[in-house]
Amino acid sequence: MTKTISSTPVADRHQALREALRENYLRVRSETEELARPITPEDAQIQTMDEVSPTKWHLGHTSWFFETFLLKDRSGYKPVDPEFAVIFNSYYNLVGVQHPRPRRGLLSRPCLAGVIDYRHEVDDALMRFIETALPDEIQKVAGIIELGLNHEEQHQELMLTDILHVYWSNAIRPAYRDIEPESTSEIEPVRWHAYDEGLYRIGHEGDGFAYDNEGPRHRVFVHGFQLASRPVTAGDYLQFMSDAGYRRPELWLSDGWYSVQEKDWQAPLYWEQRDGAWWSMTLHGMRPVDPDLPVCHVSYYEADAYARWAGARLPTEAEWEVAATKVPLGGNLQESAVLLPRPAKAGVSADHPRQLFGDVWEWTQSAYAPYPGFRPQQSAIGEYNGKFMCNQLVLRGGSFATPRRHIRPTYRNFFPPQARWQFSGLRLAKDAPAGN
Ligand SMILES: [Fe+2]
Repeated sequence: MTKTISSTPVADRHQALREALRENYLRVRSETEELARPITPEDAQIQTMDEVSPTKWHLGHTSWFFETFLLKDRSGYKPVDPEFAVIFNSYYNLVGVQHPRPRRGLLSRPCLAGVIDYRHEVDDALMRFIETALPDEIQKVAGIIELGLNHEEQHQELMLTDILHVYWSNAIRPAYRDIEPESTSEIEPVRWHAYDEGLYRIGHEGDGFAYDNEGPRHRVFVHGFQLASRPVTAGDYLQFMSDAGYRRPELWLSDGWYSVQEKDWQAPLYWEQRDGAWWSMTLHGMRPVDPDLPVCHVSYYEADAYARWAGARLPTEAEWEVAATKVPLGGNLQESAVLLPRPAKAGVSADHPRQLFGDVWEWTQSAYAPYPGFRPQQSAIGEYNGKFMCNQLVLRGGSFATPRRHIRPTYRNFFPPQARWQFSGLRLAKDAPAGN
């Protein structure tokens, strides 16, 4: 098929859209492969717990997304391998049956090279489609391509999250990447930023991509509150531990206390003691716990218990968003290539809380629930977010592994309260002092 673009302004717009889609697609897809490059085929195969997916599966699944939601319906498209429709389907019941999640690590075939070939075949087909689709068609599917790319960015972070668990489970404790740790002189003591009570608007609206769960934008009444100027550090958390934080039931939610007992939690995930000092597994291998870095790999239960011990509480997601809306978007995100949280160095003047974006995801006390008026799409794509709105808590702000373009003040991440393998930390909040 030949191009149908003429030189009319409408045609120019379509051409610009085509070019933007092509550029974004190629960039995100190559970033994913770049992130996977240090991971050997043996490491890429392993699944160390039900929630962890092998790197190889992430690479296949993100390609399956484009094949299933876009290419499959194009006339003349022949699926790369019909088996992939099952093995790389994550949870889309309306698309068809799925290979069980806990058994992804048993898929020794296709081999890693085969999955990379699959990616490239999908890439070629998608490039051909973007080039040759009629203007109406390209307009219609632009949203799906954008969703697929955001989905892939989400999996970029998950790939790093999961490979850390894989490396931690290996007695050799390999490093994903080796860098020199940033030296810290002094970190900022916690200050409190105050916010007035009032009727605020939260949620996404307008141009630009957002997931369906970020809308509709709506009004919410927020009582006066205070938010800490930085996340809780490992040093702060060590004080909670040395004050018998894990042995005092009065600090814990009932389900949290049950988890402490059942799983014998004594510290965040990946922490262990060596000769009386705490060490932690990171993407840079085992390192001594740096007390100045934001604490990472805590569950909601641990975040909540710490907050109670500290005489504070976790923020609601509305409070977090009210604060974050006023803050320029940036921070220690995937592009900084540090792959560790960074310290909040003292002496930086800021009239707003620091590190809201990047470093560690911040647990909020808000249940992951639909916003007023939320309706998921009546199609398989509607399964992306809406059906998980039960038994999960919202996290905000992104981590050092989140791509910069992927995060927004309205972004709602969500995990079950016991999850610890994410790059999850916390920031404290307080009610406004009485009389304010
Ligand atoms: Fe996915």
